[in-house]
Amino acid sequence: GKVILAYSGGLDTSVILKYLQEEGYEVICFCANVGQDEDFDAVRKKAVALGASKVYVEDLREDFLINYIYPAIKANAIYESRYLLGTSLARPCIAKRQVEVAHAEGAQFVGHGATGKGNDQVRFGLSVYALDPTIKELAPWRDDKFLARFRGRQDLLNYARAKGIPLPSGEKPPYSMDDNMMHISYESGELEDPSRVAEESLYGKTGRWDQWADAPEVVRIHFSNGVPVRVELPASGESHDQPLPMFQCLTRLGRKHGIGRVDIVEDRYIGLKSRGVYETPAVTILRCAHIDIEGIAMDREVMRLRDMLSPEFSKLAYDGFWFSPEMDFLVSAINKSQELIDGWVDVRCYKGSCMAIARQSPTSLYDEKLASMEEVDSFSPSDAGGFIRIQAIRLKAHREILKKVGKDR
Ligand code: ARG
Ligand code: SIN
Repeated sequence: GKVILAYSGGLDTSVILKYLQEEGYEVICFCANVGQDEDFDAVRKKAVALGASKVYVEDLREDFLINYIYPAIKANAIYESRYLLGTSLARPCIAKRQVEVAHAEGAQFVGHGATGKGNDQVRFGLSVYALDPTIKELAPWRDDKFLARFRGRQDLLNYARAKGIPLPSGEKPPYSMDDNMMHISYESGELEDPSRVAEESLYGKTGRWDQWADAPEVVRIHFSNGVPVRVELPASGESHDQPLPMFQCLTRLGRKHGIGRVDIVEDRYIGLKSRGVYETPAVTILRCAHIDIEGIAMDREVMRLRDMLSPEFSKLAYDGFWFSPEMDFLVSAINKSQELIDGWVDVRCYKGSCMAIARQSPTSLYDEKLASMEEVDSFSPSDAGGFIRIQAIRLKAHREILKKVGKDR
């Protein structure tokens, strides 16, 4: 059969590429460009040299940004209060195109190199089955025969040597990374001991802390319907209004000021805890700005309901249920909540933190006259007295019961 293999060019997927050919498959390599720092020409050449019958290198950056990252921004998505979901959001985007390639090629199988203990296999599998239940998933790291042959890294290296797979240069990196335009994640290896501090040299998207700029910098982000439409750096006069350039500008700003680092222990869907370090510069700034523009433009009760949906959205994204009826339902509700989320926010970045410092909105619900306690016609202080007495009816009744049964405090 024909398999579309998600190929990174790394040791694991190169071994899988050769192995699947040995098992009798015709292998077409699929390499998704989701903005990771990668030499795609070199990956393409390597795949061909290792016997791939065809190689797809697909630029998914704009799709990833607009159809996966923007919905997460509208949702203020965050998993377990800290993880902004950079890998979780990329997986369904990659899987979707991989299924499309399978259709174009008339392939029955899609393959990947995710391990049997992680989230990525779940996201991949659920996305593929949701999009086309007739396609079969090949996951060598869950296959007994493959696992019996490759018991550890040494087996992979020996096999690579025997099959003419170029060996990775230098030492094995002391952790596993997943890089895309939204974030880099670092897990396993030296990070497996959560009491051990990650080395400063690990951080790739934010640079060393002693190189962060010494002066704060303000960025103005304009929103329309809850998504960014313009990014301005007033100090330099730089401005952008296209999705990728806006995002790249915020990524550079985040790097310069060290924005978006977290080091956490999180719960994998599979049921085990895992230590991860993440750098998510642009989305950390965007999320801060987005929450702020909602502060001025969103109705209180809409916000309360939407805030209940945020953790649900985040869990569905994390667990791999991007293409699910419940996610469609949440996304449509969240989109509705964003219809009046317009205006600009100034965010100040400095030494690892960012903070909204000013905002203005054409759909603002903030009334300076009302808020400033000047005399107004719409309600008077004596109305407030009645409001409070009515709110207190219930509290009085409760207090009386407590007294009656002797449980008042
Ligand atoms: N723990 C994060 C998540 O589940 C990052 C996963 C990184 N994946 C990887 N193949 N290195 O979203
Ligand atoms: C993997 O196991 O492939 C990476 C980690 C994860 O998916 O959670």
